[in-house]
Order: sequence, then C-alpha cells, then structure tokens
Amino acid sequence: MKNFVSVHDVTDIDSLVGKALSYKANPYAGQHLGVNKRIGCLFLNPSMRTRLSTQIAAQNLGMEAIVFNVGSEGWALEFEEEAIMSGTTVEHVKDAAPVFGKYFDILAIRTFPSLKNREDDYSELYIKQFIKYAGIPVVSLESATLHPLQSLTDVITITEELKKSKIQPRKPKIVLTWAPHVKPLPQCVANSFSQWINAWGQADFVITHPEDYELSESFTNGATITHHQDEALKGADFVYVKNWSTFNDYGKIYESDPGWMLTNKKLELTNHAKVMHCLPVRRNVELSDEILDGPNSIITQEAGNRVWAAQAVLSEILQSK
Ligand code: CP
Repeated sequence: MKNFVSVHDVTDIDSLVGKALSYKANPYAGQHLGVNKRIGCLFLNPSMRTRLSTQIAAQNLGMEAIVFNVGSEGWALEFEEEAIMSGTTVEHVKDAAPVFGKYFDILAIRTFPSLKNREDDYSELYIKQFIKYAGIPVVSLESATLHPLQSLTDVITITEELKKSKIQPRKPKIVLTWAPHVKPLPQCVANSFSQWINAWGQADFVITHPEDYELSESFTNGATITHHQDEALKGADFVYVKNWSTFNDYGKIYESDPGWMLTNKKLELTNHAKVMHCLPVRRNVELSDEILDGPNSIITQEAGNRVWAAQAVLSEILQSK
C-alpha cells in the first residue's frame, strides 16, 4: 500500500479487516515494523478519535507520532497552483510538503470540505497536493469527501459483530440513515461508508434520506436508495446513523425534521439492529439518548476499533516501503 485515501488503495478488504482484528487480539505483534520511523499527523481541523487512535496505532507499531495542528498552530497554507499569495496564506503546500517529507516516513492529514464550492471540495485538492509534493506515503485522516479510516473501522466492527451473531450465511442488511442536525455537515462519512460497503459487497445495503439529500452516485451506486426511513429499517441488522448536508444544491440544510431521529420505536422495525455512528454525535438531535445509552448501540466498540484500523493501514504501508 503506497497511500491510503480511499477504498481504491486496498486490494483485499477482508484481509485488511483480518489484520486489524489480529492486532486487536495482539496489539504489539508488529512492534518491530515502525522502529526508527516517524509519522507526522497534520490536522487542519479538530479531531479527538482520529488523532488519538492514529497516535496509539503508530506507537503500537514502534513508531514515533508527532501531531501538528496546522490549522491553528502552523502557517496558513496555500494549495492553488500558480497562486499569487498576496492574501492570507503564508506558505505554499509545494514548499511545505517536501519539508514534511524530510521529517517523516509517513504523512497523515485531516482536512475538511469548505461546503461552499462542490467542484473544489470534490477535486480533493488538499490531499492530492500533499501526495504530489510530500514524496512519502500519505494517509487520509478524513478529506473533503471521504473518511477511509472510519469506514475501515466500520467494516471491522460489522465483521466482529457478524462473527458473534447468527445472521450469516445470509447477507446482513445494513442501512445508512440520514439524521437531523443543526448545522451543515460534510458528506465524507456517508460517502465513504457507502463506498466501502459497496466495495465489500457482502451486505444488502440500503440508504435512506429525505428528498434532496442524494449523495454522489459515484459512491452510492450499488445501494438501494429510499426516502422512506421506516421501509428501509424493516429487518435491518445494522443501522448506521449520520447527518450530511445537501450534495446537489451544495452544503445546505433543507430539512431538520426530528422525525428522522432514530428512536427505540423505530428500532422495533429492525432485526434487533446494532446501531452505529462515527461520533461526535449531538444527543437528542441526531440520535436519541435511549438509543445511545441502550443495548443496541455499538458506538464505543466502533470508536475503540479506530486504533486497529489505523494500525492495520500503517503496518501495510510500513511493510510496502
Ligand atoms: N469519527 C471521527 O473522525 O472522530 P473525530 O472527529 O473525533 O476524529
């Protein structure tokens, strides 16, 4: 594995999931892989889980992890080619990224979309410029359109739960449902979850959202899409809850109908579904207390698995170097 920015960087999802679960069983098995190696974790935006789990994963592999909050502590970076830098940006990525390439063996980056210009966000300029100029492997800690470490974690968590259940040999029904929120959020987690579940190909995958909240077909193709949440939830084995803003009329909130929030009553429609969310979550807006504090929630297990997802990816890159 050279870089890790989407599911397309993975040749065998099940094998990567297996590697993550073997690290979960034996966290220090790969401690020799990262000796005398250093990862730089650059954050242009806030994070709790991604930041901590990536550092722990690196340390489990014997690597040193250095976190740099570029967004709040670094020089404001310019990403446009041929920019005339007479505004607020101080340093071009063309100059900064090769320096990171000298300091680190792997570069991991978190950026967010602007949610103002869809073409710019979906061009993934930031992460592509780091790949172009750093000269070392780049790992996405969430980009403008995708969150691959989260999605790998989600497949790991589903695999783990399937092993404990009697669902197989039939395919599990996995439902991605839109949920209300008070501010426009990126489509990254929903895009990425869709991309990974479709590529994994081992589920009956349904996406449900209000009208006008369509995601990009480049990620959702292969899923069944419905505007009827109750219909979607029927017989579900896993319900993945997430808000996202509009894709077509980009970055807007049209709908904050509290009727879309998952409750125990709605959960009765499912096959005792496990409920997932990437966190952070706005309680009683996006997801109800009764679900989050109830027996069907696997959100803490899911967040814990972020370590093993990151460790599997970093070890693949270290072994390819
Ligand atoms: N799920 C996730 O990426 O969490 P953080 O934003 O806290 O990293």
